[in-house]
Amino acid sequence: MSEPSQFQAPVGTHDVLAPESAQWEGLLSTFADWAHRYGFSLVITPVFEDVGVFNRGIGEASDVARKEMYVFKDRGDRTYALRPEGTAPIVRAFIQHQPTTPFKAWYFTPGFRYERPQAGRYRQHHQLGVEVLGTDDPAVDVEVITLAQRFFEAVGLTRFRLLINSMGHAQCRGAYVELLRAHLEAHVGELCDEHQKTWRENPLRVLDCKNAACIAVTERGPMLIDHLCDDCRAHFDAVLDGLGRLGVASELSPRLVRGFDYYSRTTFEFVADALGGAQNAIGGGGRYDGLVEQLGGKPTSGIGFGSGVERLLLTREAEGAAALLSRHLDVFVVDTTGDAAAVLLDRLRRAGVASDRAYDHRSMKAQMKVADKSGARLALLIGPQELSAGEVTIRDLRSADFEQHQSRVPDQDVVSTILRLLQAK
Ligand code: HAM
Repeated sequence: MSEPSQFQAPVGTHDVLAPESAQWEGLLSTFADWAHRYGFSLVITPVFEDVGVFNRGIGEASDVARKEMYVFKDRGDRTYALRPEGTAPIVRAFIQHQPTTPFKAWYFTPGFRYERPQAGRYRQHHQLGVEVLGTDDPAVDVEVITLAQRFFEAVGLTRFRLLINSMGHAQCRGAYVELLRAHLEAHVGELCDEHQKTWRENPLRVLDCKNAACIAVTERGPMLIDHLCDDCRAHFDAVLDGLGRLGVASELSPRLVRGFDYYSRTTFEFVADALGGAQNAIGGGGRYDGLVEQLGGKPTSGIGFGSGVERLLLTREAEGAAALLSRHLDVFVVDTTGDAAAVLLDRLRRAGVASDRAYDHRSMKAQMKVADKSGARLALLIGPQELSAGEVTIRDLRSADFEQHQSRVPDQDVVSTILRLLQAK
């Protein structure tokens, strides 16, 4: 057995520590704010579900269900899966609780997929997302897509594009799949190795294939967008028109079919130009008008998107975006008397001042070292002199010449003085 000190985070997973964690906090709070502005409420569901939620939800034939899901039996012999994505669990919760519609949920969730780890692709990633259940009004498609757009803008991204397509509903897609199958059959020898084997069961997956040979074959074949029924075409046109009216630019992407079986009608992906290769999707989603029924509920339309936190952060870094949030200490209390710090810190913290201290009764010099390293702007010094005078010394830690930048104030005025100094910065 390995020594505990040799334990590492599992392959394809990451620990997030400060200062990076402040950027996570910034993304999450910005998303929560924007989701709230659009009328969404936070929904939290378990991190594992009956494996059937995903097998039936995302489709047993999907790559994620076949090859990537973390499936396990618990001690009661039930078969569960760690969630690979956030939509099917929200739909399961919707069916279970029957909330009033439209049901507008936002979430922040880890997603678990046994992928080949690389930059931007992990075995545990994190998504910020929304789902709307209970309406197929194209105005909702427009709102969901616009929310993603505005969120990306709000977190400082500038170089990203919205790719959009319609997958039609089950009927028009069914007729199209037959056309596609006939085309693939005529060119089967030209497909990549995997799709030479699997094209017949799931021909739509060939459209999604990144292999040049498959792209060459499908480019010459029929496109779903040209075979939509009148209703699906009108729905899609209304979505495009609505986006246009809000100034949200989109690019028609007829090959965009997405990886899960639940999608119908509007499908979309946001890609970041600053990220290279196959990991450039910073968000994706679409309509899933058959999913509620598929999981045992009454027919109910749905639409949503999920956006990868790690990829958003990589994109922000590649674009050189300014920090979203700086989490720094305001005050560090250096107390050599051993008695005063706890009460003073309680007063400061209750007044909203981020403040910290050293522990273990260290010397003044040692405490000052910790204070300097802490990044705090001000130090509050309490030694025997201050204690007997009922005063506290305030020192500006960002100034080299601290003698010039320190003052003593009566203990009862410390909090108000600190608040004034912090506001003036
Ligand atoms: P998805 O496209 O599989 O869709 O994932 C959404 C986003 O999560 C991707 O665009 C990407 O940013 C991020 N992502 C996915 N897998 C990984 C990974 N292995 N490593 C890093 N980031 C990743 C869904 O999951 C759907 N549930 C989205 C949705 C919501 N559709 C309708 N409603």
